[in-house]
Amino acid sequence: MGGSAVKLIDNYGRLIKDLRISVTPRCNLHCLYCHPLGWEQSEPPGTLSVEDVRRFMQAMQMLGLESVRFTGGEPLVRKELPEMIAAAKELGIPDIAITTNGLLFKRKAKALVDAGLRRINLSMDAVTPEVFRAMTRGGEVKKVWEAIETAWELGLHPVKINAVMIRGMNDGEVIPLAALSLDKPLEVRFLEYMHLDNSNPELYQQRFIPGAETKARIEAHFGPLEQIAHDPTAPARVYRIPGAVGRIGFINPVAEPFCSKCSRLRLTADKKIRPCLLTELEMDIAWAFAAPNPVEALVDAILLATQRKPAFGNTLPTLRQRVMVGIGG
Ligand code: 5AD
Repeated sequence: MGGSAVKLIDNYGRLIKDLRISVTPRCNLHCLYCHPLGWEQSEPPGTLSVEDVRRFMQAMQMLGLESVRFTGGEPLVRKELPEMIAAAKELGIPDIAITTNGLLFKRKAKALVDAGLRRINLSMDAVTPEVFRAMTRGGEVKKVWEAIETAWELGLHPVKINAVMIRGMNDGEVIPLAALSLDKPLEVRFLEYMHLDNSNPELYQQRFIPGAETKARIEAHFGPLEQIAHDPTAPARVYRIPGAVGRIGFINPVAEPFCSKCSRLRLTADKKIRPCLLTELEMDIAWAFAAPNPVEALVDAILLATQRKPAFGNTLPTLRQRVMVGIGG
């Protein structure tokens, strides 16, 4: 796949085939675990343009790219998102997806699907409106439901839901979230809370819930889950409540890191390659976008960044600059 015989392989033998592009640092929610108050709300000059995105994807395509996911911030606040998706489609990238909070999805869905969008992941940490509102600092869960229904109507499959589990906040939502999979074609995924900025380690320890604990609670309620075969390079372990229409997934990057299978490279909205989500290392590649032959320069930059991809995420307790809203899930 990927329209290329060339493969991008890092120093640890991992095949790099999945690209995540954060198209904006802006977001229209302020989720407690993702978006600190005061995070900048404008796209600074130098933010990736549609042309930059196209060229970066083209360079990755020459190196065997199989999938691209557009993230943010919130990708739907970027008005050029349909053009970026169209560029991905034009290049023939087989798998084109977004991760979104869904607030703007109903309004923009048709343009996105017409442009080539095939899959959508929605963040929904709670089904109870008050809990959702508290975790997102003001979001309305009703809007996420509208987004889910819109995605079904437009035939986007599978629709995946991401719920970051935080003790004392949404641990009471485990069963209602899991129950959504009973009669709806959804994959409800429980994500371990990652400590991206490393502030206040004691509070983090209190709030962290291992995925195994979430799974045990679901099994105590619904009985043993059936495991479903899945793409071995994907981070989620996927299961089904016996007889259910939908699925349940667990993404456990903290308790059960999947670094050895990592197939990703990230491009941030301010033109940096971030080879590892959990390591602060970033390479500023603005020079490559500005080069006389940008695609060629980007290929060089991607090869260099891939060589610097660490074997494991850095778990040292040092303070970090960026949290998820600035990196892109
Ligand atoms: N830990 C785990 N997941 C996170 N996300 C954002 N911040 C964190 C965090 N600290 C997830 C959101 C979203 C995706 C982009 O990343 O749930 O769905």
